[in-house]
This record gives sequence, structure tokens and C-alpha cells, in this order.
Amino acid sequence: MKRALGALFLWGRVLLQVASYPLTAYSKHRRQTFRLAAEALRNHLPIVSLSKVINTRLVDEDKISLQAVPQHVHNCSIFELFALAALARAVNPWLCLEIGTYDGRSALAIASNVNSQARVVTMNLPPDYLREHPDESAVVDVQLSAKVKSGERWLGRHESHRIKQIFADSLEFDFASIGHPQFVFIDGAHDRHSVESDTDNALRVIDRQKGVIVWHDARDYGVRPVLKRLHSRGYPVYVIEHTNIAMILFGEGAAIRLV
Ligand SMILES: C[S@@+](CC[C@H](N)C(=O)[O-])C[C@H]1O[C@@H](n2cnc3c(N)ncnc32)[C@H](O)[C@@H]1O
Repeated sequence: MKRALGALFLWGRVLLQVASYPLTAYSKHRRQTFRLAAEALRNHLPIVSLSKVINTRLVDEDKISLQAVPQHVHNCSIFELFALAALARAVNPWLCLEIGTYDGRSALAIASNVNSQARVVTMNLPPDYLREHPDESAVVDVQLSAKVKSGERWLGRHESHRIKQIFADSLEFDFASIGHPQFVFIDGAHDRHSVESDTDNALRVIDRQKGVIVWHDARDYGVRPVLKRLHSRGYPVYVIEHTNIAMILFGEGAAIRLV
């Protein structure tokens, strides 16, 4: 009942913002609010600006550092890479978990923006997975396990000592063995069943005192229905404006509402 009222309130506000646009469009702030509300209606998920998430968690002295910036096929966009880095700096995790290493560009962005004691565990299907599972050779996410050298973008870089690479299928992995990360980035297999499983595992292990779960491809593939379902179950999941990244922030034992 409480959740249903919460959802009703949220969507009621969104509709009100859209409906009041003709009266309020003169202000830049109002126009942005309207744009986010309209986008939220289109995607069935609320949108939040990156600054809304990080403004109260970062100060002027905080530095965001990015390396291996050029975007190759299957990488996040450059702004998404910045968003990941800024979120990592803002949350200040000591343990991070990434599902879907690929060439290592996103793991490096996270590792470059956590404190020097923090660790980033990144998981990918093993390089010989395709050879051992020829029946799955038509699945793009499986093909990617053999397309590049997993983690090649962090090789030889100072921050790589914070990264621990593991080769495993996230559907079979024992997530309890890694502890309680404060930062989880889900970007492995994109079919609904795998995203559901990765999401359930992330929700099980995330540190709810201070943590964030981040999904790439939030509006696409099997990620979209999983996030819509989470939202309908009352989780405050938000898409970050100008990205295809969604997130749930946790603090003091619970998920945090941002808008
Ligand atoms: C889209 S890529 C990740 C891109 C990377 N995060 C970046 O931003 O550059 C997805 C990766 O997940 C891996 N993957 C697919 N299914 C997986 C699974 N079940 N368990 C672990 N890794 C998986 C793929 O082999 C691929 O390397």
C-alpha cells in the first residue's frame, strides 16, 4: 500500500510537471524539470541528473581522473565513463564489483577514482568459454569473451594493482564469497534471465549502509524490463540523465529516494 502510494505520488508529480509546462517554460530550471519528466514518462523510469547525485557528496577539491578514454565498440560512452568515475568518487567504496570486464576500460575508470586502499573485483566469462560452449556461439555477449584480451586497457597502469580479475560465469558464481561491495556495476550478459540473476545477487550483497548498484544499457535488451519491475516493486531506481545508466543508491540501511 505504502509503495503503491509512493509510485502514485511520483508519477502524479511527473504528470503535473508535464501538464504545467506551458506556464513554467520561461525558466531554464523549469525547462530541465519538464524535459526529465517527459523522458521519465517515455521510459517508465524516473530520470535524475548526475549533479543531483554527486553535488552533496563531492567537494571542489575532489578530482575525477580518466584514462583509456577512447570509446571502442561495446564500451560505455565517454559521458557514461565519466558518470561511473564520478559515482565511484562520490560513494568512496572500499570494495567494488563489476560484472562484465570486456577490455577493462570501465574497471580502470572505477579503480582510478577510489581510494588507494580500495579494491575492484571484475568478472568476465573465461577466454576459452566460447570454445567450451560452441552451442552459445551466436550470443553476442559470449562472443565478446573471446573478442579482446580481457582487461587489456588497464595493463601497465598504476591503478591496475587495485583491480582483481576473475574469470567466471556470473550465473554460477558464488557472490557471497566476495563480501559486501559498496559499488556494483552490472554490464555482463544482457538477456533478461541473466540480468535478473545479476540484479538479485547485487541486491543480496550490496552494502546497504553506503552503496550503489549501477546498470549499463538501462533502456535496452533484458535490462529494461528488469529495471521496470524493480521500480514497480518500489525500488527507487533512476536513469542518469544523458546516459543509458541506471542506479539505486543505498545509505543507512535502505535505498535512497532522490526525486
Ligand atoms: C558489454 S561488455 C562489458 C563492457 C565494459 N563494462 C565496458 O564498459 O567497457 C560485456 C562483457 O560481459 C561478459 N559476459 C557476458 N556474459 C557474462 C556472464 N554470464 N558472466 C560474466 N561475464 C559475462 C562478456 O564476455 C563481455 O566481455
